[in-house]
Amino acid sequence: MQQFASDTPLTILGIESSCDDTSAAVVRTDRDRILSNVVAGQTELHATFGGVVPEIAARAHAEKLDFTVQAALEHAGVELSALDAIAVTAGPGLIGGVLSGVMCARGLAAGSGLPLIGVNHLAGHALTPRLTDDVAFPYLVLLASGGHCQFLVAEAPDRFHRVGGTIDDAPGEAFDKTARLLGLPQPGGPNVEIVARDGDARRFAFPRPLLDRAGCDMSFSGLKTALLRTRDACIDAHGGLARKDRSDLCAGFQAAIADVLAEKSRRALETYLQMSPPSATLAVAGGVAANQTIRKRLMELCEQMNVRFVAPPLPLCTDNAAMIAWVGIEKMRLGQMGDLVARPRWPLDTRQAALLGSGKKGAKA
Ligand code: KG4
Ligand code: ZN
Repeated sequence: MQQFASDTPLTILGIESSCDDTSAAVVRTDRDRILSNVVAGQTELHATFGGVVPEIAARAHAEKLDFTVQAALEHAGVELSALDAIAVTAGPGLIGGVLSGVMCARGLAAGSGLPLIGVNHLAGHALTPRLTDDVAFPYLVLLASGGHCQFLVAEAPDRFHRVGGTIDDAPGEAFDKTARLLGLPQPGGPNVEIVARDGDARRFAFPRPLLDRAGCDMSFSGLKTALLRTRDACIDAHGGLARKDRSDLCAGFQAAIADVLAEKSRRALETYLQMSPPSATLAVAGGVAANQTIRKRLMELCEQMNVRFVAPPLPLCTDNAAMIAWVGIEKMRLGQMGDLVARPRWPLDTRQAALLGSGKKGAKA
């Protein structure tokens, strides 16, 4: 397989459809890397169901992919013939959506003769700090999204060492459930964050699960039970939820998540720093990385520990195809272009046993 030197200019189309965002992007290796990054969400299609319905998601991806790809090429001002390759998310995720993207990419590749690269969605999140900030290996990344939560030492584009992760729910899932319990719209994270702004985080006492246990593993499923109980106690006491109650519940819940992520990040950093990395960096990635309270806590931690902190711009935290195109570039440079198999489960660290569970957004790594 042909390998491309790191200074060979490359332009790649990325396609993402593993959950509920249909996205296409054109990314190149020059300074202005992201030429386009079009994201078509499906929030309204799933709104009445309180979560992502896999069959609806897959159909919507199939309907939207052509237009999204066309829009990405037009915004970038690039013809298909000017590309070097097409990169597509091949997993992990909701398999119907993944297959929609893979079929679209296969069709484009067959028609254009371009090489096809299958990309791990989690690698997309985990390598985003290199797309945005040229972060050097090895760096520590906290990948926190709707389906995943893990600390990974990124050693190379295709080598990740997991130093901890959730043993049950992902934090994004907990944000989404909290929103549902409080009658806020989906996706829960951004809406809980907005409502929490006027809240008193100290009014209700929420647990900080697994802080008493050594290591970097996390648990978030107990938090939703705590939220449910506190909400019900509040309703019983006052005959309903006032605006202030809702804000205080959101603020208390968000503070608990931020505390857990900050303390576990401190421990993950201690493990990572033992490797004596030449330019120690903690990066945060995934949808939950868009949360300002969490970003601030992690930034403060990095200041204390004298470590560089990198947090991507908000549109590159949530699902997008620019990160998929970027992994395509990294894989092309390694000469890894042949492997395109759609898979619902695809852990980044294959040397360790999988963490437990499978969430509503697909299998967990
Ligand atoms: O990475 P992502 O777009 O999709 C997955 O791969 O899961 O992450 C989506 C998750 C959702 O659960 C959403 O509620 C959460 O990220 N999220 C946030 C925020 N923005 C999105 N959670 C907390 N605060 C936010 N601002
Ligand atoms: Zn994601």
